[in-house]
Amino acid sequence: KLAGWLKSIHSAPALANAAATIDGLVETAPQLDVFRFEIVSQICALTGSTPDVIYPLLEEPRDRKNGDISLPLPRARLPGNPIELATSLAQKFKCNDLITKAAAAGPFLNFTYNRDTLRNRTIASAVGLGPQYGANATGFGNFGIVEFSSPNIAKPFHAGHLRSTIIGSFIKNVLDASGWGTVSINYLGDWGKQYGLLAVGYERYGNDEELEKDPIRHLFHVYVKVNNDASENPAVHDEARAYFKKMEDGDAHAYGLWKRFRDLSIVKYKEIYGRLNVQFDIYSGESQYSLGQMRDVLHELQDLGLLVPDQGALIVDLKQFDLGVAVIGKTDGSLLYLSRDIAAAIDRKKVFDFDRMFYVVGNQQIHHFKQLFKILELQGKTWAEKCEHIGFGIIRSKDGNMSTRKGTVVFLEDILDEAGSHMHEQMRKNEVKYAQIPDPDSVADVVGQSATMIQDMTARRSKDYNFDWDRIFSFEGDTGPYLQYAHSRLCSIERQAAPLEVTPEELQSIDFSLLTEPQAFTLVEAIAAYPDVLREAGKTLEPCTIVSFALNLSHAVSSAIDVLWVSGQAKPLAHARLALYVAARITLGNALRLLGLKPLTRM
Ligand code: ARG
Repeated sequence: KLAGWLKSIHSAPALANAAATIDGLVETAPQLDVFRFEIVSQICALTGSTPDVIYPLLEEPRDRKNGDISLPLPRARLPGNPIELATSLAQKFKCNDLITKAAAAGPFLNFTYNRDTLRNRTIASAVGLGPQYGANATGFGNFGIVEFSSPNIAKPFHAGHLRSTIIGSFIKNVLDASGWGTVSINYLGDWGKQYGLLAVGYERYGNDEELEKDPIRHLFHVYVKVNNDASENPAVHDEARAYFKKMEDGDAHAYGLWKRFRDLSIVKYKEIYGRLNVQFDIYSGESQYSLGQMRDVLHELQDLGLLVPDQGALIVDLKQFDLGVAVIGKTDGSLLYLSRDIAAAIDRKKVFDFDRMFYVVGNQQIHHFKQLFKILELQGKTWAEKCEHIGFGIIRSKDGNMSTRKGTVVFLEDILDEAGSHMHEQMRKNEVKYAQIPDPDSVADVVGQSATMIQDMTARRSKDYNFDWDRIFSFEGDTGPYLQYAHSRLCSIERQAAPLEVTPEELQSIDFSLLTEPQAFTLVEAIAAYPDVLREAGKTLEPCTIVSFALNLSHAVSSAIDVLWVSGQAKPLAHARLALYVAARITLGNALRLLGLKPLTRM
């Protein structure tokens, strides 16, 4: 059942890719593993130790002058004096076309890679694998759900939703690149008494034309107005409750109006998410869980003796787990956020039989998810441990809001517009370059999007940060525009080198030994690190690791471009340098796409 469904969504190619990756596993093993494996196999043969002990110990030496990779012997738990052991192993180690030097430094063994081998293999892999360079199959056979963004219809799209969107989409991309099958879900806040209130408001203030034109904005304005009415006149709340009851009972008119709000909002959301390069496989939401499903949840909890009436509410007592009291519903029959999440989790397990489910939601909801997972566990759902809350810090701002020049922002669209138009102003300052860009509006939009996303992903997820337009607008230093600039410079080198080009077939005839300068090797090393960094990101799910990788690579690119020219060189040298730049462009492009950016070819 699932397989058929999977084919129809875009996770299917991810599975196919993973399978292909498995076939070519040796080719796609992180570049540096080839060297590590050589060290591990010789050391194990010499000492009788095993790879599972030695491999994880290999680390970057404190001082790169000592070598490229280091083995701290004291941690290898081998008999004898580690200092003496280091000396004797250094003597016995056989250098070859992978490792050119093994030297002891106290209890450390330091190794030096064969730079020619590293350079040749790295360029060949990046050019040969193209968009697959860096991908791995560590998640092959696993299926994951990534739930993220999840805004509430008719309410502001706040900073927390922005972060969830950026981080969630990154996590899905990383899983895809690690061989997982995935499905992305947007779990909208779209149900509850407040949507009865929205409908009551629409009958007072709604305008069909405006609804069609910009549903998100219009519904928000209606909602603000009717909330004011309700705070002056409590009878409005009764009306809202009655309306919501009709929605729940499936009354055609009431349900139909709500569905129109939802459908139109989703159309608009899709357009805005598109600007962020984000797609969802499924738009779900609180509304998708019927009263029937919810009652099943209640009965199950009741049968297990977990549900206790308490002052008009139905609760699950979690005090013994230090999780307080979880409010599941009210005795008047209305059900709450938490109960919908229980029903949703059970349903998703049934439909997708996931191996992991990630909820990308701000740290404010840590407690909610702890309660949710504990209740599932108490219900005997052994898979509760496969659910994970991926939290993140809050964006602080002066008045608790993000604002633009025009005022308080409540919509994602405003942030993207503001960032895009600012970038456009910046670009206009360089008239010559500006004139060469065929579509400056869309380039400015992408640069603005990159700026917004990279500033968010620069620090570890759980760090709070201050919302600050200067931070987003910055064109200098380690920013999204800088990364895009590096990528577009590489593309421009390729354009200018035409008709010279670098294809996998042509690689054979290129003489890489012409790449002798230190800048070339630094760039090779940066490219070679990508598969390692991606594999690590699959474990930590931290976008900042990829951001700092991309920045480091871009720095290496710009140092190389300054001195290693392609134009005006004899063909063999031009070709070798071009191959290096193509490998760098492929790698940077892959990293940017992983972060959710559209790599620019001109800017
Ligand atoms: N709509 C919620 C909010 O804006 C976020 C939903 C998070 N996901 C969940 N399964 N509870 O706060």
